[in-house]
Amino acid sequence: MKKLDHKQLKKLFFEFFKSKKHAIIKDFSIVPEEEGGEGLFILAGMHPLIPYLMGKKHKDGNRIANCQRCIRTVDIEEVGDKTHNIFFEMLGNWSLGDYFKKESIEWSYEFLTSKKYLDIPHEKLWVTVFKGNKIVGKDEESVQIWKSLGISENKIIPLGEKDNWWAVGENGPCGPDTEVFIDLTGKPCGKKCLPGHCECGRFVEIWNNVFMVYDKQGGKITELSKKNVDTGLGLERTLAILNGYDSLYETSVLKPILEEIMSKSQQDLEKEKKDFRILTDHLRASVFILGDVNPTIPSNHGRGYVLRRIIRRSFRFCKKLEINVEDWINTSNIVIDIYKEYYPELEKNRNFIIKEMEKENERFSKALAKGLFYLKRMMPEIKKKGKINGETAFRLYDTFGFPIEITREIAEENKWGIDIKKYDILLEKHKEKSRAVSEKAKSGLVEESKETLQYHTLTHLLQAALIKILGKQVKQKGSNINKERLRFDFSHDRSMTKEEIKKVEEWIQDKIDKKLDVTKEKMTYEVAMKLGAIGLFNDIYAKKVTVYSVGNASKEICRGPHVSNTKEIKGKFKIKKEESSSAGVRRIKAILIQD
Ligand code: SER
Repeated sequence: MKKLDHKQLKKLFFEFFKSKKHAIIKDFSIVPEEEGGEGLFILAGMHPLIPYLMGKKHKDGNRIANCQRCIRTVDIEEVGDKTHNIFFEMLGNWSLGDYFKKESIEWSYEFLTSKKYLDIPHEKLWVTVFKGNKIVGKDEESVQIWKSLGISENKIIPLGEKDNWWAVGENGPCGPDTEVFIDLTGKPCGKKCLPGHCECGRFVEIWNNVFMVYDKQGGKITELSKKNVDTGLGLERTLAILNGYDSLYETSVLKPILEEIMSKSQQDLEKEKKDFRILTDHLRASVFILGDVNPTIPSNHGRGYVLRRIIRRSFRFCKKLEINVEDWINTSNIVIDIYKEYYPELEKNRNFIIKEMEKENERFSKALAKGLFYLKRMMPEIKKKGKINGETAFRLYDTFGFPIEITREIAEENKWGIDIKKYDILLEKHKEKSRAVSEKAKSGLVEESKETLQYHTLTHLLQAALIKILGKQVKQKGSNINKERLRFDFSHDRSMTKEEIKKVEEWIQDKIDKKLDVTKEKMTYEVAMKLGAIGLFNDIYAKKVTVYSVGNASKEICRGPHVSNTKEIKGKFKIKKEESSSAGVRRIKAILIQD
């Protein structure tokens, strides 16, 4: 195996895929940029490429490779062990309807085992393949390709959906995958010691090749127009395997950061290993979120809150490890130096990154002081009950920005309990409220005047009309409504003809004139889909969705509000403009003309 650092690994990977006629592209912002792009942060190399996997043409061709920065916070509690990081980089190659399983698998094998590239011994390779389900059969083709490369059948493990089916979210492109594992020890632990079955640490996944041929929307799976490949090779993990490191923190991207942070503390470095690692991981993630081409700053919502939480959590660990917060913040310089060659925006934003962290430190110190003052006031009650009640814990979070861990720590120090159950209920209610607000923002409604309600209902009719007249491929890409007009972006690959525009206008006018009732109903997502409702299902937590119907003309998942009958829509519906918004996306501006 080649002992490489991150620069050498990136270089080899790009050289290899260049030799296979791939365009090497810069990675995308850590924030999903596409209008209507889902999620807080980019979760995988393929995430920003979804539009292209769905059929949009990429300007650099059908073979692409890059190294994508990603953030996953679901595993935040596990950060600090050997293998979990919030931030990571993923090397990947993509076929956008070009090559398929044979080339993809053969190239992965070649890159991993060839002397010129990673030089991993053939015997160390094991693979998993999709064993099939009701919709898709077993991936025999991949089995045959692996066999043709000399991987014996007992090292090809068929697994189900949990392991060998990949999708980035509830909806979107997905498909079966085949994963390559490295046998680190060569020694079975005794149990059923196989990839995907055993967690003894003998096997580590190194590469994932996904065959993206399906599109899942609302539980329904259809075939995509093109057969794509999406692969992912975790950078740090690969470095750890090649160098025989025990943890990701020994790799060339993390070690210098960890060492610098450790040098600032007087505490027992071995005993507090996990905490030092957390500070290392969180600092790197914060630098990348702040220094992105689309910077996020700490706040109480969405992305900003994720950032605030990891920064404030780090301040707490600094205190525990007796590290000056300023020293921790200044270690950002090392993070930037490691990565600036690949992410010049970090260098450009160097001062900004450090300034923002310093500001957050000031805000946090103030909030902490105020919060502690508030706690003092609550003291008689807390003492009486021997615990911090749910309302107090929530107030500390909501008003004073105390992450729950801090409240917990204070409680522990004083030997009080906390009513976490009540806190969780209040937090859930609070989240529900902010979800409703952001849904409203998504529907494009900024305020709820008589005029905007009319335009909102018209937007539903417009989408229904476009689907009717242009076809089912039309999907909402964005919407913005004010008192004067509606604006609607949708996927469509050419401009509309005059006739089509006229037809859409007439269809909508007909629905206005028919004085249709607008009704709303709550139902499960599955039922809504069965009834043919359109609309995105963004709220993955809600059990029921609200569906608005305009007579029989439109049925759409939406939080409203709307007019209650189309007779409230006053005027003549007119499309003022139909133009290109971005590649494959058209934009309509429409108004109501008063006579
Ligand atoms: N999307 C897949 C993954 O993240 C392969 O790139 O593993």
